Amino acid sequence: MTETLVPPKVRQAAPKRLFIKTYGCQMNVYDSERMADVLRPLGYAPTDTAEDADFVILNTCHIREKAAEKVYSELGKLRVLKEGREGGMTIAVAGCVAQAEGEEIMRRQPAVDLVVGPQAYHQLPELLTRTARARGERIGADFAPNEKFDALQVPRGGDGVTAFLTVQEGCDKFCTFCVVPYTRGAEWSRPVADVLTEARELAARGVREVTLLGQNVNAYDGEGPDGKPSTLARLAYALAEIPGLDRIRYTTSHPNDMSDDLIAAHGELDALMPYLHLPVQSGSDRILRLMNRKHGRQKYFDLIDRIRAARPDMALSGDFIVGFPGETDADFEATMDLVRRVNYASAFSFMYSPRPGTPAATMAAQVPDDVSRARLHALQALLTEQQVAFNAAQAGRTLPVLFERKGRHGAQAIGRSPYLQSVHVEDADHLIGRIVPVEIERGQQNSLTGRLQQKAA
Ligand code: SAH
Ligand code: SF4
Ligand code: F3S
Repeated sequence: MTETLVPPKVRQAAPKRLFIKTYGCQMNVYDSERMADVLRPLGYAPTDTAEDADFVILNTCHIREKAAEKVYSELGKLRVLKEGREGGMTIAVAGCVAQAEGEEIMRRQPAVDLVVGPQAYHQLPELLTRTARARGERIGADFAPNEKFDALQVPRGGDGVTAFLTVQEGCDKFCTFCVVPYTRGAEWSRPVADVLTEARELAARGVREVTLLGQNVNAYDGEGPDGKPSTLARLAYALAEIPGLDRIRYTTSHPNDMSDDLIAAHGELDALMPYLHLPVQSGSDRILRLMNRKHGRQKYFDLIDRIRAARPDMALSGDFIVGFPGETDADFEATMDLVRRVNYASAFSFMYSPRPGTPAATMAAQVPDDVSRARLHALQALLTEQQVAFNAAQAGRTLPVLFERKGRHGAQAIGRSPYLQSVHVEDADHLIGRIVPVEIERGQQNSLTGRLQQKAA
């Protein structure tokens, strides 16, 4: 009786499906969202699997060898899918691998239709319509972030209560191990007015917490309303004025750009959350010099002291590299000592990965893998111990929690503490989008468990 509920014509008119797989840092997460935004007017709706996608974008990361190699194995799988799919599939590679080795991608994987670097996402609609011609071209090697952000001023999709907002791109620091200055180009900051417009739009959509992104976000110097460069602190004050926007975070910061006004803002501005990702990479002065980090361990300690003086409950996070060329047991011990002194709430640690074209890759005295691996295990054990202790220490406190999403069972909801911990609370799913006091009962390694203090009105 109802055999033809959906006539074939309607089926053909179904929206085109877009699948974006994102690797790497938060900036790539932001970029992926914006790519979805520019493709929406062309009829592309997001889907969760590559299998039913008409258009697949891999937004890639070049930071370590493993991250970059993953792309090629993923492309191998996509090629099979593409060949077996009626109507074909368009495959694009975006992100930092696209920028760094576009030609190689084209050579190694003929199924790729399009390679597009991080500064050219606004050109995606145009590129898509001429994919045949674009094949073989490397798009976006010219670093024009201003063009990118101007052209990306299209409405943002999504329905979360937290959001990323890129305010700065690129890096001029040239740490000797790092590819970012080559894949993302020179430092560039968006004008304050543009950031405020995007933030207002987010707040109007229900976003309560925004994380400002930049490779060196605290080097932010976007044009202010007076035509002069603003600082990140001044931007934070302006953002805090936006009704509904109650929480501001920023990442990633370089110790050398941690200015006095930003430190002071942490003591004055309630909206600025007491959690700071401030990578130091190593605790050894000798290694810091070889890395071209441009500061020593004592300067980092002094900085941490000043930050904690401004905001005593500041939770600190960092990045570490072990096995940098020439790293001795004593150098590594200096890193362990630094970690013990600073006491981190959370941190990321990596084995050094030599990257083509970076100065460290050709340094003598590369550290053998098994030595690096043993150091990584020791460092991670210490960092985990600190994280567990930090989380456990929240038990008995009452923290304001921003409820973000439903939990796995029942009416459970998951939120964020000021210190960026996940907080699980029963019978709270009606509170999503609200900031509510929660009594913390327990801290586990990766999350806290709490209960509502009172029935929220
Ligand atoms: N701009 C940020 C971090 C960018 S990359 C900063 O200056 O801290 C993120 C992290 O990846 C770095 O902090 C570093 O710890 C790690 N990383 C970068 N290059 C690496 C490499 N070649 N091998 C291992 N880890 C690396
Ligand atoms: Fe890479 Fe150093 Fe720049 Fe960070 S500051 S992105 S580690 S070069
Ligand atoms: Fe990776 Fe590029 Fe981010 S190399 S870490 S995706 S800036």
